[in-house]
Amino acid sequence: MIEFQNKLEKNSQEIDRFLDSYLPSGNGLNSKLFKAMRYSSISGGKKIRAYLVVESGRFLSAVNNKDFTRSKYNELVTVASVIEAIHSYSLIHDDLPAMDNSPIRRGKDSNHIKFDDHTAILAGDALLSWAFEIIADSKFIVDPEKRSEICFVLAKAIGSNGMVGGQQADMDFTEQNYLNLEQIEWIQNHKTGALISCCSHVASILFNASDDQKSHLINYANHIGLAFQIADDLLDLDGNESSMGKPVMQDTKNKTPNFVTILGKEKATKRALEESCKAINLIQKFKLESENLVSLAKYTVNRNK
Ligand code: IPE
Ligand code: IPE
Ligand code: MG
Ligand code: MG
Ligand code: MG
Repeated sequence: MIEFQNKLEKNSQEIDRFLDSYLPSGNGLNSKLFKAMRYSSISGGKKIRAYLVVESGRFLSAVNNKDFTRSKYNELVTVASVIEAIHSYSLIHDDLPAMDNSPIRRGKDSNHIKFDDHTAILAGDALLSWAFEIIADSKFIVDPEKRSEICFVLAKAIGSNGMVGGQQADMDFTEQNYLNLEQIEWIQNHKTGALISCCSHVASILFNASDDQKSHLINYANHIGLAFQIADDLLDLDGNESSMGKPVMQDTKNKTPNFVTILGKEKATKRALEESCKAINLIQKFKLESENLVSLAKYTVNRNK
């Protein structure tokens, strides 16, 4: 676990370097926007999505006996950073008073507390636009077909039939206790799973994965996504605010239905472990090459933040 956390941390530093180098900065009339974009995305969060992008790529080059070249790695870091920027935008908006109304994120004031509501809304919007600007830039991803396919897959994953659709249902069904397990699963798979699944999908595009490899990896990521959100729901009840860097009991306060409210703690824990095991089984047939992805699946459910 310590070894895994060191790898995660090293990967985070690479992503922070990219974000720091390419996110806008300056002293113009919109400089507050730049500060807000940087405040909520650089040096914060576990960056497990970025890790999944990079490790899916490393995995594919190992199983296909291809060199894991510096230029390929740089393309992965680009896509991984963009996905983290999109994730940060989703959290800035998630914390707004109109949504979860949460004052603390990643151990510091949420974006709207540090700045103000309009800046938080606009910083989220701007991070999202920046993400697509970077993906579409030939300076970062050389092959135009890959650039366009990644834009397509990413846009689909985070839009109205993906992450944002899930957030809509999450908000609309707050205070509703009649949702069934299938509906909860739909919400979690969209609000959280879609972006996590996209991490393996974009790496498959960059590394010319076969159809079989791509579907294996995406399936793996789907199980990770579900396990990850159930673990988040459990941590909301039993976690520690200072290690998580965000308030606990938010879902209780907001009456957000989730796996724990439907199944209870014990069954929800069991389900998270099952999802993590399914992810491991899918990837472990490749033995050596799968080590980092197996560790990620274990970490997903054994984390304290
Ligand atoms: C929090 O995601 C929101 C969920 C989808 C559960 P993370 O737990 O990955 O948050 P950070 O990026 O580490 O802060
Ligand atoms: C947030 O889920 C999901 C997205 C932002 C897409 P949560 O509302 O459960 O995340 P936390 O608990 O605030 O991190
Ligand atoms: Mg929420
Ligand atoms: Mg929230
Ligand atoms: Mg949560």
